[in-house]
Amino acid sequence: MLQGKKIVLGITGSIAAYKSCLIIRELVKRGAEVQVVITPAGKEFITPITLSALTQKPVVSEFFSQRDGTWNSHVKLGLWADAMLIAPCTASTLGKMAHGVADNMLITTYLSMKAPVFVAPAMDLDMYAHPTTQQNMETLKSFGNHIIEPQSGFLASGLEGKGRMEDPEKIVSYLDNYFSATPSNAASSGATHTAELSGKKILITAGPTYEKIDPVRFIGNYSSGKMGYALAEECANRGAEVVLVSGPVSLTTSHPRIKVVSVESCQQMYAAATESFPSCQAAILCAAVADFRPAVVAEQKIKRVGQTMDIHLVPNPDIAAQLGKMKKPDQVLVGFALETNDEQQNAQHKLEKKNLDFIVLNSLRNAGTCFQSDQNQVSIISRDGKRDYDRKPKNAVASDIVDELCNRIH
Ligand code: CTP
Repeated sequence: MLQGKKIVLGITGSIAAYKSCLIIRELVKRGAEVQVVITPAGKEFITPITLSALTQKPVVSEFFSQRDGTWNSHVKLGLWADAMLIAPCTASTLGKMAHGVADNMLITTYLSMKAPVFVAPAMDLDMYAHPTTQQNMETLKSFGNHIIEPQSGFLASGLEGKGRMEDPEKIVSYLDNYFSATPSNAASSGATHTAELSGKKILITAGPTYEKIDPVRFIGNYSSGKMGYALAEECANRGAEVVLVSGPVSLTTSHPRIKVVSVESCQQMYAAATESFPSCQAAILCAAVADFRPAVVAEQKIKRVGQTMDIHLVPNPDIAAQLGKMKKPDQVLVGFALETNDEQQNAQHKLEKKNLDFIVLNSLRNAGTCFQSDQNQVSIISRDGKRDYDRKPKNAVASDIVDELCNRIH
């Protein structure tokens, strides 16, 4: 969806500047036209000759290109572009953007920009973690700018890897995704799916839950979150705003229309889901939620004493059933059922009990599907009957499920 798009690529003085060549190559490969604007410090890291050879355009850097009165118009660039991408973006440039310090061509272009702006920060961890940088990023977000950075994911949480510029291909995919579901593109692309969920907000739960036993142990399950993340990407690619309430998984997404809310336990997932649901048109409950949790969480690590050990469990809230109670007539609720026996009967029972519109049945009898796998084989059961699907990659299954959702959402 970047075909024919005009992109101003701002490059600043970071060691990651060499990666802007890969960004240009990827943008050009996807059909975009690229105009580079580089800061004086950026030129210390990469030469304009390399950049102009890749873009087939002179690189803009100085306000005045020659000493003959010709000057580069940042205003024209601001009108020309369909998007501005600043990658890599240093802490210094972030600060100048947040405060309007227009002392170079890149910042004046930014301030004149009429198109959406995307920023991929690149700096060392200390600079990234400094409150000034964090505040500047918040300021830019509040201006509507998109910050593209590697998502840490639960299993590498905290600041690990932060400050590093996102991979060039992921940066370009972010832009691609952004354009693929803007309604103006849908009309011209001829794609049947594109933007059919535009204006809709969808809640998705994904992954396992971890129920704490003590500070170092938990009760969990093998869910990888792949199905839920595939559903989130599918809905977002069709234009929906997605709230993805995710249990602990190693997956990440940087889709501009997916907001990830990371949780650990069922109770946290319940709180996040019940808060979001009233403002959503649909919810897909894909998480493998623990039905029980330890009655007490030991404050200290439990020691090995005696020959046996008992953990007393108490029931967790049922998120699906609660959303089923809250559901308004114009909301659509989709559940999953994982069964080993009496599949159809059990799934139908869950459909009624939880007030779902349809339920996606996974059978553990289908070897090589379900948990941890990239493939899945499902049936969709609703009050209208049952439909069986072939075994497919999870993203193709996601497409079938979202097709069914689109038939029901208005
Ligand atoms: N679910 C939920 N909250 C729970 C348990 C389940 O939201 N506490 C959702 C799951 O995300 C799924 C559906 O309910 O969409 C069915 O989950 P499953 O575990 O198969 O059903 P249970 O109601 O737990 O029934 P059982 O364990 O008896 O099979």
